Amino acid sequence: MPHINMDQLDKILNRTIDSIEQSKNEIYDIAEHAQKEFQQMKKKLSGLKEEIANSIKIIEEYEKDLNKNKVELMQINKNFNEYSQEQMKEAYDKTDKIRINLAVEREREQMLIQKRNELEIRVKSAEKTVNKAENLISHVAVAMNYLTGDLKNISSHIEDLQEKKNLGIKILTAQEKERQRVAREIHDGPAQSMSNVVLKSELCIKLLDRDTTKARQELINLKDMVRVSIQDVRRIIYNLRPMSLDDLGIIPTLERYVSKVMEESHLVIRFVTAGTPFNLAPIVSLTLFRLTQEALNNILKHANATETIVKISFLQEYIELFISDNGEGFDIAEIQKKTKDNGSGFGLSSMHERAKLLGGEFSIRSEINQGTRCYIRIPLKANKMYYNITTP
Ligand SMILES: Nc1ncnc2c1ncn2[C@@H]1O[C@H](COP(=O)(O)OP(=O)(O)OP(=O)(O)O)[C@@H](O)[C@H]1O
Ligand SMILES: [Mg+2]
Repeated sequence: MPHINMDQLDKILNRTIDSIEQSKNEIYDIAEHAQKEFQQMKKKLSGLKEEIANSIKIIEEYEKDLNKNKVELMQINKNFNEYSQEQMKEAYDKTDKIRINLAVEREREQMLIQKRNELEIRVKSAEKTVNKAENLISHVAVAMNYLTGDLKNISSHIEDLQEKKNLGIKILTAQEKERQRVAREIHDGPAQSMSNVVLKSELCIKLLDRDTTKARQELINLKDMVRVSIQDVRRIIYNLRPMSLDDLGIIPTLERYVSKVMEESHLVIRFVTAGTPFNLAPIVSLTLFRLTQEALNNILKHANATETIVKISFLQEYIELFISDNGEGFDIAEIQKKTKDNGSGFGLSSMHERAKLLGGEFSIRSEINQGTRCYIRIPLKANKMYYNITTP
């Protein structure tokens, strides 16, 4: 997986969200405007429809009047002797006036109908615009939710993936480093001694006929050499995995380890336990052992300390390990930067990874001239597979 710059990704996301937010406001304006226009048009349309209905009524009235007038005119024409010139003119004028009014009203009705038809088309298209805008708003809302919610999490998903990948690489590197260390130890220790044993045995064979006293001395040397080699091999095996972890459990193993370190150094180590110990799954015991080993190695290598506390607490839901020293302390930020820059120092990050692999936490505090404290907490309930509760 290519390396992804999280800050860059966050910037792009935020910019996208900002521009969508802006578009969202614009869409809201458009929707509001379209809605207003749509309502106005609907009002106008119903006004027009009323006017048309009115006009139809007026036309009907005029038509009635006209018919009445036609009957009157027919009457006048039949009995024209009974009407004065004046009366006849008046009747004709009245009819003409009604005709004109009727024609004008019909004209108005036609115009109103045309207007109504046009407005109906516009109302329909305004309705469509309103619906589209509302649709768009809900789509934008979904997109916004996605961007601010789900998609925002994408960076943490990617970070998780990257962390997992880094963890895998770190585990492989740690394995390789451990193998190299074991290979070097066997090469420098037992392998070297064994070739010396072969050389010395050859010398003894030669000396046996010539100088038995010398041969005897060489055999004693040989015996010492083999004894040292056996110790070396035992130490290497112990460092690979102390057998006592499986046979005796974490506490006796740590007790032994701590007294061995005390014997071999000037360090005074106080080993403390808290809570009621219970059996731990092998991976938890081994992790606790390795963490103590690395912390004490660091103290011996870097701290120049005189006293150390190793405390292991069996709590109901956690195992806690606390290791402190009264040594020189160090600047954590500076060391972290160094480790990042040139990949030096593997111990602290491997402690971190080991705790994390069991879903636990690792933290370290250090102050110059005030010593260093390592704190590890491993959850048990969350990692059921990592422990069994059958107390010995
Ligand atoms: N208890 C401590 N007291 C003082 N300095 C410490 C202590 N623990 C760690 N450091 C400092 O932190 C550095 C990093 O430790 P880390 O264990 O990661 O690497 P290292 O011990 O140098 O090498 P490695 O553990 O890979 O053999 C050390 O080089 C040392 O400067
Ligand atoms: Mg170290």
